[in-house]
Amino acid sequence: MIITVDGPAAAGKGELTQRLAKHFGFARLDTGKLYRAVGWRVLAGGGDPENEAAAVDAAKALAADDLEAPGLRSEEAAEAASKVAAIQAVRGVLLEFQRHFAAAPPGGRKGAVFDGRDTGTVVCPDAMIKLFLTASPEVRAIRRVKQLQEQGAEAIHGRVLQELKERDARDTTRNVAPLKPAEDALVIDTSDMDADAVFAAALDFISSQAPDQLPKS
Ligand code: CDP
Repeated sequence: MIITVDGPAAAGKGELTQRLAKHFGFARLDTGKLYRAVGWRVLAGGGDPENEAAAVDAAKALAADDLEAPGLRSEEAAEAASKVAAIQAVRGVLLEFQRHFAAAPPGGRKGAVFDGRDTGTVVCPDAMIKLFLTASPEVRAIRRVKQLQEQGAEAIHGRVLQELKERDARDTTRNVAPLKPAEDALVIDTSDMDADAVFAAALDFISSQAPDQLPKS
């Protein structure tokens, strides 16, 4: 049983996927973290994330430690992530890992929840449940500033908003696996919703789509 949750930055995917994974006892994969780790590795080596050879090498060399790098949640890592993510060969390397995760969720779990940009369209096109979260750029920038400040980072609203818009543009216009809802995804605009309301809407949709397939909660 696979649940995919895609959407732009700070639309509420992280919170929702954590809640869904906990609720159903499923494994969770934050696919953005893989792209952040690749971008961060390139930066750490003094390379340019738009350089295909450097980005592909970093993707191939990715190790478990890279996913724990302290700088991963920074806006610098996010920008580098969206640059390496536009390179087809990088996506190919990461696709294999993601498909394997879906086929055999770790810990013998009966299902997996994916958080990303293309998990319902490319990674798991046959997923039973597909959600696409979105929200206005202004609301998303407010949320991201709060998150960054909670991590102790300095964050200026105008600058974060600008960076989000640039990243949205790069993610939606790239040739490979652009950010867009799958045809069979439920699109939820979370601009005026809190995390409880988003979770409730997701559970409603899941029970309407797969009433018999779900483990009892
Ligand atoms: O946390 P936030 O939503 O800001 O970003 P993220 O999910 O960590 O993803 C960082 C970047 O990785 C995105 O802007 C995308 O360019 C890229 N990404 C992708 O291309 N495909 C995915 N499945 C996940 C992330």
